[in-house]
Amino acid sequence: MEKVLFDKLKKELSHISPEEGLKLVSNQFNGYTRFSTSFGMEDQVLTHMIAIQSLSIEIFTLDTGRLFQETYDVYDLTKQKYKVSIFPYFPDRARVEELLKQKGPNSFYESVENRKECCFIRKIEPLQRALADAKIWITGLRADQSANRHSMEVIEWDDQYRLIKYNPLIRWIQEDVDVFIQRNNVPINTLHKKGFPSIGCAPCTRAVLPGEDPRAGRWWWESSSKECGLHEGKGKQPSVAATNLT
Ligand code: ADX
Ligand code: SF4
Repeated sequence: MEKVLFDKLKKELSHISPEEGLKLVSNQFNGYTRFSTSFGMEDQVLTHMIAIQSLSIEIFTLDTGRLFQETYDVYDLTKQKYKVSIFPYFPDRARVEELLKQKGPNSFYESVENRKECCFIRKIEPLQRALADAKIWITGLRADQSANRHSMEVIEWDDQYRLIKYNPLIRWIQEDVDVFIQRNNVPINTLHKKGFPSIGCAPCTRAVLPGEDPRAGRWWWESSSKECGLHEGKGKQPSVAATNLT
């Protein structure tokens, strides 16, 4: 996609609602649009918008094998309620077996390096497969989730995966999410009501205290940037050479 087309899309998406934006990209990139859900509140809002409009957007989840039972419950409920198909990407069996053989089941607590290794095996490699033929990747990111996310934009060029990343809810605040969920009776993970604003893998997520940073419960034992690498591919806008995206 030439820069000029990227800029045009950015302008359009900045001025329309997430519902309209999802419709626009599903038509424009028909067959090449993927939405990643971890069944967090924002993802549930987007699944609702996609399902209600019957958009042709492929929904996938990265089932790390270490998720909470409550996450599997809302996964099931979502499939039943919206009658959508959610494609599960599972980690490579041989890589997991080797990791467990070499380092045991809890290596992520020992060092940031070990933690990133586990995240690579259980999330990043499956994500690479999920996005292999995608031209646009939709996420539930919001800018006010963390300091790292403040500079994120509604659409970005992701250099890691060589595609456009579309974050329809990037400017929404928590209250917008809560209101949408309530008005539309969207099913959510029951852990949210137990002090879990952000939910990842079970061994790496704890509840937060009132007033604590919403992401404080993710990899709480680390003082790192609290990202697993899924969202670190932001690059410059695409060049003509980048790829043919339309
Ligand atoms: S993370 O990088 O810290 O794990 P976070 O939980 O905030 O991310 O979720 C942000 C967005 O990343 C979600 O809206 C979703 O699009 C994507 N995402 C995160 N985890 C997963 C997962 N397990 N499966 C699919 N998408 C995910
Ligand atoms: Fe592994 Fe924890 Fe990363 Fe999940 S969040 S992939 S369990 S290190």
